[in-house]
Amino acid sequence: MASEQQPVVVTCTAPVNIAVIKYWGKRDEELILPINSSLSVTLHQHQLKTTTTAAISKDFTEDRIWLNGREEDVGQPRIQACLREIRRLARKRKSDGDEDALPLRLSYKVHVASVNNFPTAAGLASSAAGFACLACALARVYGVEGDLSEVARRGSGSACRSLYGGFVEWQMGQRADGKDSIAQQVAPESHWPELRVLILVVSAEKKLMGSTAGMQTSVETSALLRFRAEALVPARMAEMARCIRERDFQAFGQLTMKDSNQFHATCLDTFPPISYLSDTSRRVIRLVHRFNAHHGCTKVAYSFDAGPNAVIFALDDTVPEFVAAVQHSFPPEPNGDKFLQGLPVEPALLSDELKAALGTDPTPGGIKYIIATQVGPGPQVLDDPGAHLLGPDGLPKLTS
Ligand code: DP6
Repeated sequence: MASEQQPVVVTCTAPVNIAVIKYWGKRDEELILPINSSLSVTLHQHQLKTTTTAAISKDFTEDRIWLNGREEDVGQPRIQACLREIRRLARKRKSDGDEDALPLRLSYKVHVASVNNFPTAAGLASSAAGFACLACALARVYGVEGDLSEVARRGSGSACRSLYGGFVEWQMGQRADGKDSIAQQVAPESHWPELRVLILVVSAEKKLMGSTAGMQTSVETSALLRFRAEALVPARMAEMARCIRERDFQAFGQLTMKDSNQFHATCLDTFPPISYLSDTSRRVIRLVHRFNAHHGCTKVAYSFDAGPNAVIFALDDTVPEFVAAVQHSFPPEPNGDKFLQGLPVEPALLSDELKAALGTDPTPGGIKYIIATQVGPGPQVLDDPGAHLLGPDGLPKLTS
């Protein structure tokens, strides 16, 4: 292999994922090993993605990172953990005698630039897509192949699930060194083409406690969380995998809602208690149950993470009517953001019966906008050099 004078530059994109069996709690804070397995749906990158460019060069004097156009502290422990891990894997590959290993590159410093195609202010969890994307881009420039769960996980636990498209489980594993705590695809994105995902972006009221600190307190204080992890999640993982395999929306939706509710119950069982749901979140929960009761079956399901935004799952033929119901219950602000973003949704009229079933307490402006999306593929490598976020000098092309 010729020695490289030019910087080696790679750009990747990675998706957001939403857990339908939630991860909450670590058994090892340093290695980010969970107390239970979890299962998620990968969202399509047309609507939500992180793009990351990594460049290595013998001319770089230090590691540097820019997030959404601003230089950030590369010394941040989780970024450092990812860098250490990828360099360890690259060294291992070399010492395993791999012909293609690139010994020179190991000593090179790296520059990283990363942007999201969705506003951070929307309060959507971006760390999973961000660290999955970092892991992929670093792996490419340092010539590391194979499963990157270990690398992504060290950035953020849920990030290992963003390494694959479709439906993904993160097996908690048993080993103390975390070697068996890995993400695996349960079914590809083509498996359930009718499944749709709506993100209802709720006007955030205040800054919430982050997942890392929140789950730490939960592990320390919630007996309910321990019971959930040990006695309930194993059977739920198996049942959720079955629902997906058989495309059983009724059971999928019910278990998704129950698992979200149970996660938030463990937050309330934490001491001091944590609450991520807002009044608007609770109104969405009521709306979903009234909508389903009106239809006499589970047509839509909600899930909430460590924030007030609702993620809604439905089959494509339900989406127009449900979006109309949301619009009816949360009349959009006239000067707000474009209400419906992402995949197009046919307009639909609500029947008087459904309107009556939904009740008469509309909350104007409670929901800022909806992002309509679907199940999508895993990380991608962009071959077009025009996509690089770093210029030939190794500095960000765009300043924003
Ligand atoms: C509620 O992966 O953000 O979204 O591992 O500390 O970085 P750290 O936490 P993080 O937690 C995500 C928690 C959740 C549920 C889930 O995605 O499974």
